[in-house]
Amino acid sequence: MSLLEIRDLKIYYRTPRGPVKAVDGVSFDVREGEVFGIAGESGCGKSTLVHSLILRKPPMFHAGGEAIFKGKDLMKLSEEEARKIRYTELSIIPQYAMNALNPTKKIKDIVWDLAREHGYEDRSEVEGLLRERLAMVKLSPKVADMYPVELSGGMRQRATMVVSTLLNPDLLIADEVTSALDVTTQRVVIELLHHFMEEGIVKSIIFVTHDLALLDKIADRTMILYAGKVAEIAPTEEMISSPAHPYTKLLLESLPKIGVRYKETKLNGIPGYPISLLNPPKGCRFYTRCPYVMDRCREEEPPLVEVGDDHYAACHLLGGENQ
Ligand SMILES: Nc1ncnc2c1ncn2[C@@H]1O[C@H](COP(=O)(O)OP(=O)(O)O)[C@@H](O)[C@H]1O
Ligand code: SF4
Ligand SMILES: [Mg+2]
Repeated sequence: MSLLEIRDLKIYYRTPRGPVKAVDGVSFDVREGEVFGIAGESGCGKSTLVHSLILRKPPMFHAGGEAIFKGKDLMKLSEEEARKIRYTELSIIPQYAMNALNPTKKIKDIVWDLAREHGYEDRSEVEGLLRERLAMVKLSPKVADMYPVELSGGMRQRATMVVSTLLNPDLLIADEVTSALDVTTQRVVIELLHHFMEEGIVKSIIFVTHDLALLDKIADRTMILYAGKVAEIAPTEEMISSPAHPYTKLLLESLPKIGVRYKETKLNGIPGYPISLLNPPKGCRFYTRCPYVMDRCREEEPPLVEVGDDHYAACHLLGGENQ
């Protein structure tokens, strides 16, 4: 069953030179009980997409499409309605999670403010829950009485994860939460996210990263975005073993090979740069960098078509009625 259904969603930024089309007609589902990965190079619209589900502050605006979450269109909620479901139904661990907590308040006060706003009345009950969750992420109960600045980066990260999940949101969004961490801490964070699912604290997770190598450790299915559009969606194992879209193939080829030390390998990044999202050209957004580009790619946008079991990609080389 789908917890979230995104249909042709368009999220733009208003600028003096015209709209920046950061998310431009994206469709996908997040199913109950799954970790859904979103990957793609920096600037492809990952953060815009996930943040728009929670809060759209100018210059960001909704330019079309729907985001149906538990039967309601998130794009149509009033600020008050959005505030109500935040933390209780839908929650985000932001990209700069380490610095996301209010530095002037103790952890227990941050948590109490949040719980009170959502109708909790018993402070000792909430602090009991906080201690339980701190223990779950292997933090001492003393952390409740500390200010965020008194915690190390890794501890702050875990404290932020506790705050984001305290009220058992159905859907947890993790935006590049592992990007600033060393490999060992990355593993701990990924284990914690799994643990939140196993314990039933969250039902589904959207895990956003620019690091494709992490996805096979966490995501059941993965969506690859390129310049504000979906390139490919597939079960992660299948995406890694048989990528269909030329961009996904190049991304995977650019990863350091397993078993070869990082220093000894040369990252063969994808040549060229993503196009500007201010006035994106028609046709396939990848055509300026694609080794297989054809005339048609410059004119017609490729639709997202089924290319295998639960596997979708948008490229004129792949199956579909236009073939
Ligand atoms: N406030 C803004 N005004 C205009 N453009 C923006 C703004 N914030 C982000 N963008 C643009 O939107 C695009 C997508 O950005 P973002 O969602 O942050 O990508 P990602 O998270 O994949 O790195 C980028 O081209 C970025 O420059
Ligand atoms: S549609 Fe054309 S340019 Fe786009 S990925 Fe496919 S072959 Fe390359
Ligand atoms: Mg981002």
